Amino acid sequence: MNILIVCRHQNVYSTKRLKIAAKKRKHNPIVINPNSFTLYAEKGHSGIFYKNQELKDIDVVIPRMGITGVEYGLSVVRQFGMLNIPVINSSEAISRSKDKFECLQFLAQKGIDVPPTILTRTGTSSAFNRIMFRLGGCPAILKFIRGSQGKGVVIAESSLNAKSILEAMRCLDKDAMIQKYICEADGCDTRVFVLNGKARAAMKRIAKPGEFRSNIHLGAKGIEIKISKETAQLAEKAVKILGLELAGVDILETKTGPVVIEVNSSPGFQGLEHATGLDIADMIIRYAEEKARMKNDR
Ligand SMILES: Nc1ncnc2c1ncn2[C@@H]1O[C@H](COP(=O)(O)OP(=O)(O)O)[C@@H](O)[C@H]1O
Ligand SMILES: [Mg+2]
Repeated sequence: MNILIVCRHQNVYSTKRLKIAAKKRKHNPIVINPNSFTLYAEKGHSGIFYKNQELKDIDVVIPRMGITGVEYGLSVVRQFGMLNIPVINSSEAISRSKDKFECLQFLAQKGIDVPPTILTRTGTSSAFNRIMFRLGGCPAILKFIRGSQGKGVVIAESSLNAKSILEAMRCLDKDAMIQKYICEADGCDTRVFVLNGKARAAMKRIAKPGEFRSNIHLGAKGIEIKISKETAQLAEKAVKILGLELAGVDILETKTGPVVIEVNSSPGFQGLEHATGLDIADMIIRYAEEKARMKNDR
């Protein structure tokens, strides 16, 4: 099979692992930067070009999208989908999850527990104070609606602090949301890897001392855990609502139970493979085989 991995960076761990796993199963992995594709749309003939040639014979596509250049990447993934080439995940589902607020909107609407979160552009102090009151006061979390690896996730110790951070974030012409700080999490979260509707692996991430963000890229430690049925079902339900087939769900433990803070549509799995000893790349490649087979059986 020709497995296309759409990714801006060839040399990141997860992409390298997917290539190895694909080769092990006698496939041909191809990694291409989404910016290198040219898309063509016309009645009766739409296509994708790479190096001036129409791209043909791709059996399945695995998009690995970061947070920069998302729009173009989504157009590329959408085009593959429209050409009836199986993609893991669809452009619509990726788009829903890339915007952290949109993701929470969908989850909250379908009855999934998420931390109280507010998106606002209001600048007045009285409106801002009301917002902070609704979130239970400070500290509060501020996050860019598009972000990853803990970058752009900030803790504000006071209302004044929160307001000025939000203003600074808005100066960059990027929206940020304000979220209730879950202090019980105490610098830990649970990352659940969901593939084809099932929670397949999980780890607890423990932030390094003095840090509240438990991202592996920020030095957090990952340890394998066996999650409760409740947490597994929460992750599976969240992923299903967003329409994703492959995802990493971040969950915080609160006094009243687990809440979902975000769903990653291209989760890196270095920390998870190291913590669990599982071959996540192999799981993904086997699922890619299944997707391609399902298409051929239709
Ligand atoms: N509301 C919150 N309360 C407490 N900690 C949080 C909250 N939101 C995020 N965090 C911490 O910050 C980390 C990064 O936040 P997240 O929303 O997952 O953004 P990113 O996409 O950058 O990973 C989380 O893994 C968690 O440890
Ligand atoms: Mg996260």
